[in-house]
Amino acid sequence: MAKITDELVIRGNHIKNRIVMAPMVTFSFQGDDGSYYGKQHIEHYAKRAKGGAGLIIVQATSVFGAVDSTGMWSKADIAALKQIATNCHEYGATIMMQLHCGNMDINELSAAEIHSMQMNMKQAALRACEMGFEGVEYHFAHGFTLCKFIDASYNRRTDQYGGDALNRARILTKILPEIRNNTHKNFIVSVRMGEYLPESKDGIEVAKAFEKAGIDLLHISFGMQPPTNPVPEGFICSPMAYSGCKIKKEVNIPVIAVNEIRNEEQIRFLIENDYVDLVAIGRGMLADPEFANHVINSEPLNTCSGCKKCFWFTDHTLCPAGNNR
Ligand SMILES: Cc1cc2nc3c(=O)[nH]c(=O)nc-3n(C[C@H](O)[C@H](O)[C@H](O)COP(=O)(O)O)c2cc1C
Repeated sequence: MAKITDELVIRGNHIKNRIVMAPMVTFSFQGDDGSYYGKQHIEHYAKRAKGGAGLIIVQATSVFGAVDSTGMWSKADIAALKQIATNCHEYGATIMMQLHCGNMDINELSAAEIHSMQMNMKQAALRACEMGFEGVEYHFAHGFTLCKFIDASYNRRTDQYGGDALNRARILTKILPEIRNNTHKNFIVSVRMGEYLPESKDGIEVAKAFEKAGIDLLHISFGMQPPTNPVPEGFICSPMAYSGCKIKKEVNIPVIAVNEIRNEEQIRFLIENDYVDLVAIGRGMLADPEFANHVINSEPLNTCSGCKKCFWFTDHTLCPAGNNR
């Protein structure tokens, strides 16, 4: 039986426990001197690493600008991101960066635009590797650009990027060999995606296509819409977390579940029953930077109040769970 404190080895990286910090944009943070990332971000991630998270997935970072060092890839941003990675390593956390491709209508993209996006997707991964991140997670979830590629009902493309699951996953799988050739052998390439309801078979086929292409890890959130289907009796987590358990049964690579996982009992349930390999905590980690240590030591948590209007999307200092944590 797996335990929360068991390490998990992914591509030679020893993740020290099964608790992951989910990627979360810190909307009200400021960068320094015109950069997007800065001291506030550095402190934020160091606190969660100190708090015991085994794996930290840094918030969505737009790939655009990675090729020409603009946008979120300026010198100052790179310096801050490097510092984030270094600090997390000091506390023994594994660290990855989530890579985002905006919110475009993929059915309207020209071949040249797709090529340019892929060049930025690749370059962003190479840069993350150079900065000391153990891997990247491509954001194929939540209705954004990459999500639309893999969604069978949205994607109406008639070229190599539309049609069957292999084609819909190609936006990433095509560049994966180049990423592998230009990063070290332990560099993790992961995908965050959904189950793609109502046809979970569409999501499962894409998950298998990613696995076959050599993706190392899947993080199952939601696709175009959150699932609302009931969970089996006795399953003590949300339908979205259940999506992760469903995908886990279909693939042989590690799977992360996420969504409304709030306490030790739920984490134990998911890990000890082998439903998934890792659990990601979003708002729980915002409310309690020491979330992982508190769960591991069975100590009381400073819990997310579940206020339903998460102030971290607007002004985190208003979070009812406590200011400026
Ligand atoms: C403030 C905030 C920012 C978020 N930003 C991202 C993001 O950058 N990328 C992403 O994939 N999900 C993002 N999410 C979703 C979380 O990663 C997570 O899936 C969601 O909060 C559900 O988990 P939870 O119930 O543990 O909070 C964000 C959520 C919050 C609350």
